[in-house]
Amino acid sequence: MNLPKLKIGRLVADLPIVQGGMAIRISTGALAGAVAKTGAVGVIGASGLAFEELAKEIRLAKRIAGGRGIVATNIMFAAREFVGLVNTALGEEIDLIFTGAGFSRDIFKMAKGTKTEIVPIVSSVGLAKISKRLGAPAIVVEGKEAGGHLGTMRSIKEILPEIREAVGPDLPIIGAGGFYDGKQIAEFLKLGANAVQIATRFVLAEECNAARAYKEVYQKATKDDVVFITSPVGMPGHAIKNSFVKKILDKTVPRPAGCDYCLKNCSLVYCIIQALINAQQGDLENGIVFSGENVWKIKNRTIRPAAEIIKDILKEYETADE
Ligand SMILES: Cc1cc2nc3c(=O)[nH]c(=O)nc-3n(C[C@H](O)[C@H](O)[C@H](O)COP(=O)(O)O)c2cc1C
Repeated sequence: MNLPKLKIGRLVADLPIVQGGMAIRISTGALAGAVAKTGAVGVIGASGLAFEELAKEIRLAKRIAGGRGIVATNIMFAAREFVGLVNTALGEEIDLIFTGAGFSRDIFKMAKGTKTEIVPIVSSVGLAKISKRLGAPAIVVEGKEAGGHLGTMRSIKEILPEIREAVGPDLPIIGAGGFYDGKQIAEFLKLGANAVQIATRFVLAEECNAARAYKEVYQKATKDDVVFITSPVGMPGHAIKNSFVKKILDKTVPRPAGCDYCLKNCSLVYCIIQALINAQQGDLENGIVFSGENVWKIKNRTIRPAAEIIKDILKEYETADE
């Protein structure tokens, strides 16, 4: 079973696999570069990085990739520094920018005349059609099974066929949310996708920048541990239950001591950025571990190089239904 290549505008990835961007230093240049080196798409989570830090991570990812695959970054529209991060990535001549957690029309104008392709992350027919009209060379369609901030409470299985029908056969679609086994590549392609975006599974990569304690939470997670929380940005997300998450659910979570207004809209009920930084650093008592809905279904939860995870995914795909 030969997998189709993924074409996004002028770019071609040998493998139709995108490692989803993970903000607050979970997916940095090391992971993105290692994934791109296999011929897939490696993505740096840009939100929460200073401009110079993002530039450094892009250079690192490109160096590791050595010209293979696609090196991309994911920039949340909800971040106040959105424009500065986009300009930084464009200045580094990054191959591609994914943009989610809100929708930006202006980013297409910003990237005009550059070498960078712009790919929005959407969860509705409306935004998919607008993306196509604005000239997006591809879109990511993300269902409620995904990690991070969610734009829908509907399953990828429902929205993917709807969006494929709405945008027609020619716009490349990358399906995202709940991917835990290579056999799902065939399912996603059948639903209308040209490629899959996978994040949760890559947290267990050696090159993922989360603390060892964070990865151990992924290794031990059971179905009952994965809960919905509401982020102060006003969007839901899946988190793995711990004492901090329980406080969010009980509404006893402490309000932030200070605030630098890093998000365009924030309820200030708690500081999501500080909680994500704490978790990334291994302080789980005061942190939020975001994950996809199906983290507990991942069969091999050992920590190993990203290239081996991709090899396993391809093997699972090839041996599906045997
Ligand atoms: C820890 C974590 C952080 C994430 N951060 C972001 C982000 O900054 N921006 C974004 O658009 N998506 C983010 N996502 C979503 C992923 O990029 C991806 O689309 C989604 O998680 C795919 O589903 P899966 O994790 O079940 O494979 C994040 C996901 C995880 C697990």
